[in-house]
Amino acid sequence: MKSSSSQFITGLLVGLLGACLLFAGLGQRKSGKNGSGSGRELTVAHSQSVTHPVHKGIEEFGRELSALSGGQLTVKIFPSEQLGNETECIEKLQQGGIDIAKTSSAPMGSFIPAYKLFSLPYLFRDSEHFWKTLDGEIGNELLEAAGVTGEGKPSGLTGLGYYDAGSRSFYTTKPVATPADLKGLKIRVQKDPVAEDTVKALGASAVSIAFGELYTALKQGGVDGAENNPPSFHTSRHFEVCKHYALDAHSRNPDVLMASSKLWKSLNETERGWMREAAKRSSLYQRKLWAEESEKAMAAVSKEGVKVTEVDISLFQEAVKPVIEKHAKGEVARIAKSIQAVK
Ligand code: GCU
Repeated sequence: MKSSSSQFITGLLVGLLGACLLFAGLGQRKSGKNGSGSGRELTVAHSQSVTHPVHKGIEEFGRELSALSGGQLTVKIFPSEQLGNETECIEKLQQGGIDIAKTSSAPMGSFIPAYKLFSLPYLFRDSEHFWKTLDGEIGNELLEAAGVTGEGKPSGLTGLGYYDAGSRSFYTTKPVATPADLKGLKIRVQKDPVAEDTVKALGASAVSIAFGELYTALKQGGVDGAENNPPSFHTSRHFEVCKHYALDAHSRNPDVLMASSKLWKSLNETERGWMREAAKRSSLYQRKLWAEESEKAMAAVSKEGVKVTEVDISLFQEAVKPVIEKHAKGEVARIAKSIQAVK
């Protein structure tokens, strides 16, 4: 008994030491090019694989940041949920455990209520409307809003910029052409109450699963499908299980690059300027890449035997009206209205 409890304590200490070493390695100061010791390597976490256009956008962020800072600020990217799923990454940003993360706006809605806005179905008319909004005053206002919780307290997050994540459509093991075809299906959604309600309004049941666990869930039949943009459908290889892709484009959630406020506070104004500029330049780079890679992903999944269906979007728009009524309240309603007015 005694020896098993001492083994347990030893195990616990070894585990704790390992965790300390891991976190000491993250966000460390390292020797700069000139050996001044002023260089700093920032950790960046995200959920997608290294072949995904968002990873390539973050690599560009790193190149730009390094160039602008003359090598004083560099990044080390941890893809594929290596540092946790998106909700966990947001929590780690708040605690300062990681420096930077890129997540979908969808899980952010549970931390920053204004971000629920982005999950409202059919909020944006198209990609042009989306970028015109995000590059303008509303986009800036929402990046600022990432810093504040619903109770008006500091959130621990600092919004840096947006990346393209296209529009989300259903991919399933059974054919889907109308909302009626979704009836009875179990569809994976992100950790996002608006996405859950959207799927329910369309007749399916919603199951929230982290992106990294979805392939297995699909393969084992835990869910009958999911919804996402073409590059994510392709690079995750979910097309190996889901052979039907119905292009209903029900939402257009941006991806958001955020820094931890702990990191932000430790930077001077010049360094903050480099971060903002690198985010801006990498966004321009990433959105171009997005358009090309989305097309390639569509061609690739079709070649793999996925049947792509152009659906009658008006049927889906009609079915999700109650979701908009339920979630577009207060501030969300105000911003949604001003987005509609962006021409
Ligand atoms: C998109 C988004 C990711 C997110 C994923 C998901 O691909 O870019 O950030 O993890 O959707 O559905 O979880």
